[in-house]
Amino acid sequence: MHLEARSPTDRGARSVFLAAVRANDPVCRDHYRLILALAGFPSAQPGQFVQILCADPEGPPWAGGAFTRRPFSIGGLRRTGNDCELDIIYRVIGPGTKWLAGLRPGVQVSVLGPLGRPFELPADRPVAYLVGGGVGLPPMIWLAEVAAAVGRQVVAFCGARSADSLPLRPRGRQDAVPLSPTEPTLCMEEFAQWGVPAVVCTDDGTLGRRGRVPEVFTSYLASHADEAAQAVVYTCGPEPMLRLVARSCELLGIPCQVCLERTMACGMGTCQSCVVRIRDASDAQGWRYQLCCTDGPVFDSRAVVWQDEKWGT
Ligand SMILES: Cc1cc2nc3c(=O)[nH]c(=O)nc-3n(C[C@H](O)[C@H](O)[C@H](O)COP(=O)(O)OP(=O)(O)OC[C@H]3O[C@@H](n4cnc5c(N)ncnc54)[C@H](O)[C@@H]3O)c2cc1C
Ligand code: FES
Repeated sequence: MHLEARSPTDRGARSVFLAAVRANDPVCRDHYRLILALAGFPSAQPGQFVQILCADPEGPPWAGGAFTRRPFSIGGLRRTGNDCELDIIYRVIGPGTKWLAGLRPGVQVSVLGPLGRPFELPADRPVAYLVGGGVGLPPMIWLAEVAAAVGRQVVAFCGARSADSLPLRPRGRQDAVPLSPTEPTLCMEEFAQWGVPAVVCTDDGTLGRRGRVPEVFTSYLASHADEAAQAVVYTCGPEPMLRLVARSCELLGIPCQVCLERTMACGMGTCQSCVVRIRDASDAQGWRYQLCCTDGPVFDSRAVVWQDEKWGT
């Protein structure tokens, strides 16, 4: 495990790298795990992301793939000297990710990073709850490793529509994942390898508990009040899910850091395509814009004006 010594605000070091594909394998019906090998990648932290050129770095723009780079969370990072491996777990949804899914080991891709503001692990909060939905799970996997390594008591809450859209591997047989766990168990390999127990839920009940992850998480908070009082919640996934998780935390006074997604073109604060409304009492309208790519993607949940929130309600 490589715990990278760096302040969350030290975000200067970033560059473009040619990375070699080491592996690119399906993890479930629509997610792949891409392992990229590159040299000289700067220090990075969970919550940060890279922009991948989903097209041949040497080829013409009309040769297929996507014209602009696509953002992906760093789902894991391993270093050996100057060499580095990055894990990217991605869902195939459009031209860029379809192009990624066709990559074979040995070919090269262009990677820009590390980008964005990472999660923070305040020293006075010994418990870390990680709440990830679907494609929001990758940053949680790396965060689990780092938080466990610095001594946090970590519990992961993992949700997906169905068993076959959960980008995680059950430890042992799939039917060994408890259907209605009252307590988290070491049931998912990606978390269990760091000693982190998980609660799994699927909308259709095909794996773990039937239900949506905010409901399952909220009922866990209610039954673990003493532990929750010492926790920070870290969450990533679809914005309606983030909003529900954030609301439960705010009602109980638990700090919550949300990792937001926006459409991003540059990833570096230039194109202004990724704005987020952030509450600001000093502004006449009560909020101002910040950029998801450079001010985020991790924000304090209490600061975020949600996309479907009518201002003033
Ligand atoms: C900071 C950050 C981290 C991300 N991390 C991951 C990750 O770890 N794994 C992963 O699979 N995906 C991640 N995403 C989302 C990923 O960037 C998009 O899925 C990808 O850009 C899609 O590219 P595409 O060319 O395949 O599809 P596109 O043609 O770009 O998109 C297909 C459809 O999805 C919609 N869409 C695209 N991007 C987003 C978005 N960010 N939010 C909501 N809707 C979108 C488009 O509007 C369109 O309807 C992340 C996004 C951000 C901003
Ligand atoms: S993606 Fe260009 S400013 Fe954020």
